Amino acid sequence: KILILDFGSQVTQLIARRVRDSGVFSEVHPYDVSDEFIANYAKDGALRGVILSGGPNSVIDDDTPRVPQSVFELGVPVLGICYGMQAMAAQLGGEVENGKLREFGYAEVRARGHTALFNGISDFVTPEGHGMLKVWMSHGDKVNVMPPGFKLMASTDNCPIAGMADEERKFYAVQFHPEVTHTEQGKAILGRFVHEICGCKSDWNMPDYIAEAVTAIREQVGSDDVILGLSGGVDSSVAAALIHRAIGDQLTCVFVDHGLLRLGEGDMVMDMFGKNLGVKVIRVDAGGQFMGHLAGVTDPEAKRKIIGREFVEVFQLEAGKIENAKWLAQGTIYPDVIESAGKGKKGHTIKSHHNVGGLPETLNLKLLEPLRELFKDEVRELGVALGLPHDMVYRHPFPGPGLGVRILGEVKREFADLLRRADAIFIEELRNTVDINSSKNWYELTSQAFAVFLPVKSVGVMGDGRTYEYVVALRAVQTQDFMTAHWAHLPHELLGKVSNRIINEVRGINRVVYDISGKPPATIEWE
Ligand code: XMP
Repeated sequence: KILILDFGSQVTQLIARRVRDSGVFSEVHPYDVSDEFIANYAKDGALRGVILSGGPNSVIDDDTPRVPQSVFELGVPVLGICYGMQAMAAQLGGEVENGKLREFGYAEVRARGHTALFNGISDFVTPEGHGMLKVWMSHGDKVNVMPPGFKLMASTDNCPIAGMADEERKFYAVQFHPEVTHTEQGKAILGRFVHEICGCKSDWNMPDYIAEAVTAIREQVGSDDVILGLSGGVDSSVAAALIHRAIGDQLTCVFVDHGLLRLGEGDMVMDMFGKNLGVKVIRVDAGGQFMGHLAGVTDPEAKRKIIGREFVEVFQLEAGKIENAKWLAQGTIYPDVIESAGKGKKGHTIKSHHNVGGLPETLNLKLLEPLRELFKDEVRELGVALGLPHDMVYRHPFPGPGLGVRILGEVKREFADLLRRADAIFIEELRNTVDINSSKNWYELTSQAFAVFLPVKSVGVMGDGRTYEYVVALRAVQTQDFMTAHWAHLPHELLGKVSNRIINEVRGINRVVYDISGKPPATIEWE
């Protein structure tokens, strides 16, 4: 296994992720673990290497983080990254200076000295025959004198010592960040470190991850009971499946149906968790209560607030009935863990983002967040490994307020019923239509797709009769990060079929339009 010591970088978890991608088990711990912890950790010989992360501090200042000295005495390879490199240099007898120029972003690094770390790795070769790496840099300080025993491993114009190695002791250090995807060979470099230098095998996989997570959850909660707010979304579902695997009936899920879910969603959740997985799920049908509070409200933000508030109220009431509960489990995943700079001992504090709108501290429960180190694609892989259906785990995101923000203006039960049916037809046809070029269906080819209810009536003609009914808009977008998005160029035949089916099958809708706005300037949701 690999130990990653965290010096407060925003991308430490990416190091862990890259190591996991190489099939090697790693754990992230704060830099200030005790020597005793490290000795214990290395006791059984399973520790093969240590990675020191970057961080926001300067080793030139007093009282800034240092590497526990025992790390350098373990006899295992050590890789320092950015601050980790500077700390290594300072502690082993080198020197660090405050660079006059900060360097941030893309850089080209010349690999030197034929070290084991860069062996066979380069992005291009200069006419002079130098192997070059395209990397991502982010630093102010730099090493200006290498410690005794080290040789030069990499340099840039700005940073003559951008990498150094003591190959005898297997200490390596780089000023750039191999863990970010902008460093094109980053994965290969970390792969070389863990495999070739540390000698780890690629034998760690999802079943191992599950076994470890299960043990950790059992240790954390002991015999206490745990409550989890199940929304039917990917994250809370995977968290529920994992925690159930660990502690069975000590877990109770509360599933609040606010009446604004998609067609058949409530039953689907109950079948999947209650029937198939044997998870204890309390379903609260609170549609009436939500509708009551939403009556007459048209402002989107006001609707969101009401839905969030009622959710908390309903959840709290149910949670209060579960007597022995000491823990509140949440499906917080790594991207939800937002860094806010400048506070706390390690230079950063971590704030949790709660999809459900922030369950209150008054619940007096401890937080259990078993997914907080994982990225979305890893959560999905974990879900499949835990036996959740593939289609469920690869679903598009669905907003917490549900159809509440897809029914423009006032939310009414009648509108929600019409929208649910139109939306289900759209999704069904997206799934059933395969694009011949990619062999993928259009649900897979889009990042988010749904129907929106417009509370305006327009005139139509059906048979010999005039109709005067509501409009539905279809929205389908393609995006990487949901911050910007393109409207999807769905085939006209697909759109035609969806429109026909909605108008024929959903009495009350006589017109279907397709939204061709990008984000920006529009947003993905209409409210
Ligand atoms: P917009 O509409 O801002 O949406 O382009 C970006 C992503 O966020 C989702 N979204 C929400 N999710 N509560 C949520 O949990 C909300 O109030 C909310 N509003 C938007 C949206 O579905 C899209 O994936």
